[in-house]
Amino acid sequence: MTIELSTATAVVTGAASGIGEAIARGLLARGATVVLGDLDAPRLEVTAGRLADDHPGRIALVAGNAADPEHVEALLAAAPAPVDLFVANAGVFRGFGLDAAEDEWALGWDVNVMGQVRAARALVPTWLENDGGCFVTTASAAGLLTQLGSPTYSVTKHAAVGFAEWLAATYGDRGVQVCCLCPMGVRTDMLAEGESSQDAEARLALTSVVSAGSTLTPDDVADALLVAIAEGRFFALPHPEVGTMYARKADDTDHWISGMQRFRTSLEG
Ligand SMILES: NC(=O)c1ccc[n+]([C@@H]2O[C@H](COP(=O)([O-])OP(=O)(O)OC[C@H]3O[C@@H](n4cnc5c(N)ncnc54)[C@H](O)[C@@H]3O)[C@@H](O)[C@H]2O)c1
Repeated sequence: MTIELSTATAVVTGAASGIGEAIARGLLARGATVVLGDLDAPRLEVTAGRLADDHPGRIALVAGNAADPEHVEALLAAAPAPVDLFVANAGVFRGFGLDAAEDEWALGWDVNVMGQVRAARALVPTWLENDGGCFVTTASAAGLLTQLGSPTYSVTKHAAVGFAEWLAATYGDRGVQVCCLCPMGVRTDMLAEGESSQDAEARLALTSVVSAGSTLTPDDVADALLVAIAEGRFFALPHPEVGTMYARKADDTDHWISGMQRFRTSLEG
């Protein structure tokens, strides 16, 4: 069973900018009603206002931390009908090199992993009892391959992919559709912040992302996601080359690691 996007009641977290905003825009264009969440309250208001100009009457917003279970409940309560599509998109990209601080690791776990788990806890039992629903994890190509420069991002995005796989294996045949979005480079603030960083490992992280393949727009990513949902595919891979790299990694991991070492050396110049 795949969700009908034109009648969906959706929540998108991290929706004030970038990929989340584009997903919200794509859902609204297809007829869905969308509750937008984001930590950045002023920016969320501006984004919601812009989207509401084009799609009046189908938007609500709640500012807050996507990793906080009370905020998740507030997002669900703000929807005019039971939520049947949840896009757990909020994510953080902090912590570079082996020196990444404990609080950067903790933030990555909280937002990139436990944010997903807490949202699923709030939704899946109800979906199992009623008409089902669709859970979207915004992970990353870093969760399938690796993220040079950032162990925190690489590890927490792997965990996000692992959680989405577990959800799909456990509930996917009981009315819970799961889709795992794994883009590589996308032109958003997240990419821009790394590129302008003073930290050499942070710059390496972002240079590796933009050197590994094409850099897409957030709208490209949203379109790929919404097609994958409509087709009932688990992985949404806006950069198709990520699927090829993932298969090569699984086929010969030692060879793949040697290639990553050479790639890193070439970037360090
Ligand atoms: N940009 C890329 O190249 C890229 C590639 C792969 C995956 N991703 C993932 O896509 C998602 C969106 O990132 P983006 O590139 O659009 O970045 P972005 O910085 O444009 O947007 C992220 C949004 O999430 C919000 N946010 C951060 N922490 C939050 C929290 N705890 N609760 C609620 N909102 C929070 C921010 O305020 C921001 O509006 C992230 O999960 C990111 O890891 C991005």
